[in-house]
Amino acid sequence: MDASYILRIFADMNVDVHGIIGASGQLGTEIALRLMEAGERVVLLDIKAPSYAPLQELPFEKVDVRDQGALAAGLGGHKVTHVYHLAAALSARGEQEPQWAWDLNMNGLLHVLELAASMDHIAKVFWPSSIAVFGPGSGPVAAQTGHRLPTTVYGVSKNAGEHWCAWYHQHRGVDVRSVRYPGLIGTLAPPGGGTTDYAVEVFDHLHGAAPYTCFLEAQEKLPMMHMDDAVTGALQLLAAPRAALQCAEAYNIGAMSFSPEELFAEIRRHVPEFKAVFAPDFRQAIAAGWPDAMDDAMARRDWGWAPQVGLEELVRSMMASRRDVQPLPQVS
Ligand code: SER
Repeated sequence: MDASYILRIFADMNVDVHGIIGASGQLGTEIALRLMEAGERVVLLDIKAPSYAPLQELPFEKVDVRDQGALAAGLGGHKVTHVYHLAAALSARGEQEPQWAWDLNMNGLLHVLELAASMDHIAKVFWPSSIAVFGPGSGPVAAQTGHRLPTTVYGVSKNAGEHWCAWYHQHRGVDVRSVRYPGLIGTLAPPGGGTTDYAVEVFDHLHGAAPYTCFLEAQEKLPMMHMDDAVTGALQLLAAPRAALQCAEAYNIGAMSFSPEELFAEIRRHVPEFKAVFAPDFRQAIAAGWPDAMDDAMARRDWGWAPQVGLEELVRSMMASRRDVQPLPQVS
């Protein structure tokens, strides 16, 4: 047996394996691509195979997170070390099928946490929380420890999920880390039925004959973030020394804050003929309960959170990106 063979075995034993659950979704697609481009070993887990072509060369496990046995087989078979648990029903879709959303969001998380506690090869878990944990009484700028009265099944599941993560860390030693994401804006895969989706959807309607119909009010300000910052944040938080993380819950992270009319004004700098009309639906009430912005001082202090993309660059990047993905599913 030559020395290089033995070295290779040791390298294989020490290598990180990133298992992305919900890998075909909006955030999963982007995290998978970033890790793949960095030369990391990545395994995709989802109920549907990735539609973004470059990811189709990665190993894929068809897994429903509600099936703990299938999840155990998928994570165990690849000796996953870093789990990104991203599969969830978002706020608007969750209101239409509350029991299904609760089952998916809550039992999916509990399965992942339980497996992380019992499988020795799992070193870390990333699980996103959301601005949806906030609600009436949180104020326009949500404090890290601000008042939380979620008004959606999605928000309730994220709020409860934060407490479960803290419990599994404290009592079962699971190194689970979390951020409260605002609306995420990117192009590779569509979001799955959120209240902030208009800010992605609008980019499919810039050149149509008919004006874009926005489902929120013109002045409804919400916290938003470009996908590049969202992915960087997740990877930065996972890489941070555990001892530096003083927050027992999910970290607030902010990047920018805008209303539909502010986003559309920025779009018009590129497409002057762009027109929008406003027909607020049930999603307006959800948005109205959420803060306008996030106080993320703790994330900046503990692990160096520093978003790079503002509104101007976000619009420029969305306009420049290839829009060869399928249209967003309609929630109405
Ligand atoms: N983007 C999410 C939603 O709108 C918020 O986390 O549901």
